[in-house]
Amino acid sequence: MTSDVAIRLATRRDIADMMALEARYYVGNLDPSERANGFISNLQTQDWFTWAVDSSGVHGAVTDDGSVVGFIAVTDPPAPAQAGLSPIIQRVLDLAESLEFNGKPIAQQRFALRGPVCVDAAARGRGVYSAFNAATRAAYRERFDLGVLFVSTDNPRSLHTATTKLGAQSLAVFEVDSQRYHFLAFSF
Ligand SMILES: CC(C)(COP(=O)(O)OP(=O)(O)OC[C@H]1O[C@@H](n2cnc3c(N)ncnc32)[C@H](O)[C@@H]1OP(=O)(O)O)[C@@H](O)C(=O)NCCC(=O)NCCS
Repeated sequence: MTSDVAIRLATRRDIADMMALEARYYVGNLDPSERANGFISNLQTQDWFTWAVDSSGVHGAVTDDGSVVGFIAVTDPPAPAQAGLSPIIQRVLDLAESLEFNGKPIAQQRFALRGPVCVDAAARGRGVYSAFNAATRAAYRERFDLGVLFVSTDNPRSLHTATTKLGAQSLAVFEVDSQRYHFLAFSF
């Protein structure tokens, strides 16, 4: 990775920048022609960011001048009955009950939800994604056995990085509101 970008745990002071970054790459805010390099399917609320940061679940990529150019979340999954879950997360939790990874149902193991992950276009192709994987594996491998994530079937860049760089496996494809998503899992 280029030397001017460092990975560190995000703090509450980073939340506004991370929310702005996420909103910039939200599928609804991108022209269809801009989506080829990836997009975010679900926007997180400020309350969610606060909870995730407070549980040490978010890492940021920060430049020398303090700008946040990327972030990744690795968090405990919410309880399936929690109010206000997005339909995509609801399906991910349902699938975790029935799908197996390493020979056991995922929900019977210590699993994390991985994502969202977002790298600003100006910082892509510089190793930030792989640096996130190294930092989060080191930070969470004692806490979780495996991680699960979802990737839109229309997001080939993210599917490529998740399968080849993270080493995640697609275990199923599911549909929400006419959009299809891979359910992937990886070992920490
Ligand atoms: C997905 C994302 C986090 C990856 O980070 P990144 O810094 O772009 O990742 P890298 O540059 O290390 O790797 C990108 C890889 O995708 C490949 N790629 C680029 N466009 C692609 C495409 N349209 N289809 C398939 N692969 C593609 C590149 O060749 C590269 O792979 P290689 O190193 O094996 O050649 C980043 O692009 C991003 O934030 N996108 C917008 C938000 C997003 O999609 N988040 C994930 C939601 S599930």
